[in-house]
Amino acid sequence: MDYDIKSTDLATTGHQRIEWAKRFMPVLTSIRERFITEQPLQGMKVSACLHVTTETANLMQTLKAGGAELALCASNPLSTQDDVAASLVVNDEIGVFAINGEDTETYYKHIHAVLATESNITMDDGADLVSLLHSEETNPALVENIVAGTEETTTGVIRLKSMAADGVLKYPIIAVNDANTKHFFDNRYGTGQSTLDGIIRATNLLIAGSTVVIAGYGWCGRGVANRARGLGANVIVTEVTPLKALEAVMDGLRVMTMQDAVEEADLIITLTGDIHVLRKEHFEAMKDGAIIANSGHFNVEIDIPALEKLSTEQSTAREFVESYTLRNGRTVYLIGEGRLVNLASAEGHPASVMDMSFANQALSLEYIAQNQDKLKNQVYVVPESIDNEVARLKLEAFGIEIDTLTDEQEKYLNSWEMGT
Ligand code: NAI
Repeated sequence: MDYDIKSTDLATTGHQRIEWAKRFMPVLTSIRERFITEQPLQGMKVSACLHVTTETANLMQTLKAGGAELALCASNPLSTQDDVAASLVVNDEIGVFAINGEDTETYYKHIHAVLATESNITMDDGADLVSLLHSEETNPALVENIVAGTEETTTGVIRLKSMAADGVLKYPIIAVNDANTKHFFDNRYGTGQSTLDGIIRATNLLIAGSTVVIAGYGWCGRGVANRARGLGANVIVTEVTPLKALEAVMDGLRVMTMQDAVEEADLIITLTGDIHVLRKEHFEAMKDGAIIANSGHFNVEIDIPALEKLSTEQSTAREFVESYTLRNGRTVYLIGEGRLVNLASAEGHPASVMDMSFANQALSLEYIAQNQDKLKNQVYVVPESIDNEVARLKLEAFGIEIDTLTDEQEKYLNSWEMGT
């Protein structure tokens, strides 16, 4: 088995942490138990490009229990937990190609190594595998083996939908992000909590009383904004979509342009999936000591080259925090190189929320194995039956019972004649 990780010596700590996460992943665990007996992924070779975290390790174990052969690389050079990579190699015999802090060349070398395993299912978080498989530099025979893939995040789904619309997508994709039991919870509560966790771990900032600007009031932005408010921040939202901006207003938050917001901000967090949301004119107007961070998928939301160009001095203020002294004499602090802050300086989402996201991944792979001949080169939503099953299993794990419709109610809700 090939692999490339930091050190196999870290396997014991990795194993402990994977087991800790498992305690909070009852839905995935119940799927794994079923997979052990039913073997739905027997004969499938899976290449996965996901954040190498304790939760991903539990997903990998579940897929392996279902009969899949696996190779895993990182979907971000800073998110790999080296002890988890070690445990997957040593204890689970899964080929992992990921080292925390790897340079861009190694990052892509690792993605190529995973693709070279000639898999027939891809699992992406940001569409890196799909993009490489569609690029001219990649051996076209590799894409011919693929029956389908899955995509974990908003940014990846947007890219894949535009590939499908242009007729260039070469194999079917299931958009796991678009499952309700994924983005309602993972993007909102998972990103909401872990983004602040990353910022607090990196800076030890007191959120109470701080003015926190949130760029983007989508699923992730809403989560972070409302958790920051819960911690006592004075929250300002910036948006480009009138409906979302209005929602923020009615949620009781201040909304303004970024140009106005930066003048007040102690902390600015981007979560838009867009490019250069924070740029030259914004850096120039920031207060001395402003802290900036990104939790959107790619490190393009903050225009770091422009920040470097504006700076007379750059140094490391503390672990994960880079200090930039601007020509106007003020200092701006950038966390985690502008990469996903919750993964760069914390552990990513809590396991309990990844339980649902990765249950959708595991069940989507089973669906692909069962329906591979029927799928076309399109982006599919996760089947409603899977989404509902994940919600049911999660409630069951919480020990929460809900009501069921009576026959009379069922009839009433499905009729336009009754009860008027
Ligand atoms: P979304 O589509 O629900 O929300 C994005 C929002 O940003 C939209 O309301 C849009 O109008 C707004 N926006 C776009 N350009 C803007 C600009 N220039 N200024 C202000 N607002 C702007 O997307 P979602 O699910 O909230 O995801 C956002 C990003 O976070 C994506 O890149 C996604 O992949 C990433 N993500 C990150 C996670 C993490 O672990 N940090 C987890 C899940 C998603």
